[in-house]
Amino acid sequence: MANTNSSNPVTITVTTDGPYEVVGPITLQDEDGNLIEVEAGEPVYLCRCGGSTTKPFCDGTHDTIGFQGAIQAVQEAEANKQA
Ligand code: FES
Repeated sequence: MANTNSSNPVTITVTTDGPYEVVGPITLQDEDGNLIEVEAGEPVYLCRCGGSTTKPFCDGTHDTIGFQGAIQAVQEAEANKQA
């Protein structure tokens, strides 16, 4: 369900076998509260494969390591159980 309670909603899209795409006004910080600079008005791509050398940002490594998003990986695991 989309966030419709704000005039500036943030949308996070789980891309297929890739990063989280974050669109909207966000503040990005590390675990100590240090701000991580992002370009205002531009989408931010956050790594979810764990392989990026520029974390928390995606650097495209997901393609080279053959990362599979959870939905596909779970479906394949379930199919293998039944085989
Ligand atoms: S999701 Fe792209 S490098 Fe991890």
